[in-house]
Amino acid sequence: MEEVSVGLVGLGNVGSGTLAILAENADQIALKLGFRLKVAAVCSRSVHAKTIPSSLGKIIQTTDWREVVNHPGIQVVAELVGGTGVAAEIIDASISSGKSVVTANKELMASCGPEIWDRAIRAGINLAMEASVCGGIPIHAVLREGISGDRVTALYGILNGTSNFILTEMEKRGESLASVLAEAQALGYAEADPSADIDGLDARSKLALLAALAFGEKITPSDIFVEGIRRISPMDFQYAHQLQHTIRLVCAARQTHDGLILSVRPALIPRSTILASVQGAYNAVWVKGLYGEDTFYYGRGAGPRPTGVAVVSDLMRVAREIRSGSPERVSPFAHERLGEYQPVSVTLQKRAYYLRFRVDDQPGIIARLAGILASKHISLEAVLQEPCDTKHDLPFVITAEPTSEQSIRDAVEEMSHLDFLREAPLALPMETAL
Ligand SMILES: NC(=O)c1ccc[n+]([C@@H]2O[C@H](COP(=O)([O-])OP(=O)(O)OC[C@H]3O[C@@H](n4cnc5c(N)ncnc54)[C@H](OP(=O)(O)O)[C@@H]3O)[C@@H](O)[C@H]2O)c1
Repeated sequence: MEEVSVGLVGLGNVGSGTLAILAENADQIALKLGFRLKVAAVCSRSVHAKTIPSSLGKIIQTTDWREVVNHPGIQVVAELVGGTGVAAEIIDASISSGKSVVTANKELMASCGPEIWDRAIRAGINLAMEASVCGGIPIHAVLREGISGDRVTALYGILNGTSNFILTEMEKRGESLASVLAEAQALGYAEADPSADIDGLDARSKLALLAALAFGEKITPSDIFVEGIRRISPMDFQYAHQLQHTIRLVCAARQTHDGLILSVRPALIPRSTILASVQGAYNAVWVKGLYGEDTFYYGRGAGPRPTGVAVVSDLMRVAREIRSGSPERVSPFAHERLGEYQPVSVTLQKRAYYLRFRVDDQPGIIARLAGILASKHISLEAVLQEPCDTKHDLPFVITAEPTSEQSIRDAVEEMSHLDFLREAPLALPMETAL
């Protein structure tokens, strides 16, 4: 039986998981496809130090990705290197030599996806990127095929496992972000430089891809308002719980009368909502459609095996298309601003807000804060205060009735100059409709 030959470039977390599944699950995969997926070559800078499963037989092992891309027998290249430098060269060169591509690279696809798809379609090859968002959750297939007949009105996600792990551990144990982060780093869950995770940048790339797939609009990471979780402290969970809410790094894309509002930010969400029960390093995506209404997708967002399954499944899809002579015809990304779902500023968003203060206590504080809110036409809903030992660093919370993000920003800016504040107020939106 004729086989389809693949080459893997990158044998790190994802590449090693992919290779293990291709080796261990080879017979099942062949039964499902009706032909074998043959691993013809593997590449990484330290390939000679890697353990290559012996069941794969004799395969090319190289440190030079060009050997994989230029090999005449290889039909599909899996780019599992990451980043936007050499990964872009590998994909470009593969497309130029007529090879189909599977990639797990959210960063590159979020910034250059439409152009790469355009080239792939013109070259008559296939391109797949399921592993680039939410590792083990097949959310690309859902948005491109499963619910493509619907009209998406909103998409909410927990798209970064590391920050979700940190927030849910802080919530459970009442420990600071710094101490949970240090533990996550020691366990290998978080990078030595945690910025991409806790500042929301990784989640922003993923939301750019999902929103483009869901709304068919050209969306780049710069369209998305981003705020990380660094300012969240255990006391915020205590106050959120008093309000029957919790705090998560929420990735949101919502169609409004004004346009598409996109954000990645910590937000209060009701504890009763399904997203609030997403714990630890798990990911979830909740999609609302005009016709089909709510659907929810949950699973592991990272890790060699869950992500490896996504890569192997993409390799299978691409191999089927190669065998049936069907090149990619339509890009999942728009190339132009279509208008209907045009991204607009998050300052147009209307929400209730949670405002947390730390003050050096003195008479008249609430009156002055309430005065600033009133001057911006913001109605105060409640004032909450947990017991505290010191008057010099006294936390309390004000919740505000639904208002525009712009009004809240104006109020916070004015409040930030007040001499009794220990730090700028923390303002978090309170999501309701999840
Ligand atoms: N980790 C996850 O769970 C996960 C989940 C979803 C998506 N992703 C995405 O998957 C991709 C890979 O992530 P990863 O975590 O597997 O990264 P990783 O562990 O750092 O692995 C990267 C691999 O690429 C190889 N490499 C780097 N530069 C190379 C070059 N110039 N030539 C040949 N090989 C080169 C490295 O080789 P050496 O080891 O020899 O240095 C390593 O094997 C990224 O785009 C990432 O965003 C990862």
